[in-house]
Amino acid sequence: MEQYVIKGGNPLVGEVEISGAKNAALAILAASIMTDETVTIENLPNVRDINALLEAMEEIGARIDRLDAHTVKINGAFVKDVPVDYESMKKIRASYYLLGSLLGKYKRAEVILPGGCNIGSRPMDLHIKGFRALGANVEIRNGAVAAEAKHLKGNHIYLDKVSVGATINIMMAASMAEGKTTIENAAKEPHVVDMANFLNSMGANIRGAGTDVIRIVGVEKLHRTEYSIIPDQIEAGTFMFAAAATKGDVTVKNVIPKHLEATTAKLLEIGCEVEELDDAVRVVASKPLKNTQVTTLPYPGFPTDMQPQMAVLLGIATGTSTVTESIFENRFKYVDELTRMGAAIKVESNIAIITGVKHYMGARVCAPDLRAGAALVIAGMAGDGITVVDDIHYIQRGYEDFEGKLRGLGAQIERVNSEKELQKFRFKVS
Ligand code: EPZ
Repeated sequence: MEQYVIKGGNPLVGEVEISGAKNAALAILAASIMTDETVTIENLPNVRDINALLEAMEEIGARIDRLDAHTVKINGAFVKDVPVDYESMKKIRASYYLLGSLLGKYKRAEVILPGGCNIGSRPMDLHIKGFRALGANVEIRNGAVAAEAKHLKGNHIYLDKVSVGATINIMMAASMAEGKTTIENAAKEPHVVDMANFLNSMGANIRGAGTDVIRIVGVEKLHRTEYSIIPDQIEAGTFMFAAAATKGDVTVKNVIPKHLEATTAKLLEIGCEVEELDDAVRVVASKPLKNTQVTTLPYPGFPTDMQPQMAVLLGIATGTSTVTESIFENRFKYVDELTRMGAAIKVESNIAIITGVKHYMGARVCAPDLRAGAALVIAGMAGDGITVVDDIHYIQRGYEDFEGKLRGLGAQIERVNSEKELQKFRFKVS
């Protein structure tokens, strides 16, 4: 199994280009088959989750023409509305977005019920509530969600909880329903806005995305478009925090600074300097990091996908900090791994109480999920000695060329595939 091996102690210095947003791209790819015309999508991140969804879409009949690692032409004219029970679907949670797109286009869809993942149960009750409100019969049978409607009719839908996935899935189905739909208590993440802009570029009529009330007037058909995905604010935040943890000086390029406000605010609070440019943000960490309190919240609050990275930073800050996870019920699995690197963290229910230590010590750790895996790499770069991270396939789900981008900033990190390669790295850096 591939591993990352890291020799800690190098401050990260220089510039790094941020890729397209994985969570915007997954939704937009699913929506691209809602027209029978050809859709061109640019600035796709070249990561496992994207490639897995493209493979699944090809299996249901989408014509996929990969122009290069970041650009794809898709034609959904031959997509079947048949039950989608393919191996490739099981690999990727976001295949549940095909429910909203196939239901919107064909008024019928059946997709494997996504498994839970390592950050907690991932229910779909709000997605199902929305589809039923639009007039679909929805049932769970043989481990799949099946939705069908004679015709979809707009409705007023209130989401009991802010849900990115439910907001996006309902938006897709409603964009081809008859009449008006209002989604109240909608998610406001940048990728929800990107998705609405994408659908509108195909001829949909969606207003209010980015606020908590989204208004949609259904249309009969959607048409071709060419669209470029927004930059990934979580990848950007991850590199900004890596700069802070290693006392570096890093400029993240090709970002939208507005999407990074909560992340920037926390870096300022703990004593980093942050300079915002038009499409870049520079982080300089020359002073010791200070403690603070963080609670994850829906956008524009502090993002849950930055929670493990925040805990790693606070783990080597002075004083005691708290990190409260309010979105997912099981997003502290990395704490045991970080403790093996010398962290002093106590988790009580959904709060991590963190007592800062001087530095992390290198160790062999396991990535429990995508963002926690990236956070453990940050700890390894900030720590003393050699860190080996197992299960890096999680990290590759959402970070394009993670080790290459980090090496470009001066990190001593390599992806190894054998004990022999590991020894070679140890010898090289010793
Ligand atoms: C999206 O997941 C992202 N994934 C997650 O990123 C991200 O952490 C999350 O939004 C929150 O920002 C993708 O976009 C592919 P939710 P999603 O529905 O849509 C509960 C990453 O690292 N809920 O906003 O599944 C749910 O249990 C991943 O890139 C219901 O109760 O998240 C959670 O507590 C990890 N019923 C809360 O809402 C539902 O029907 C927010 O979940 C749906 C959700």
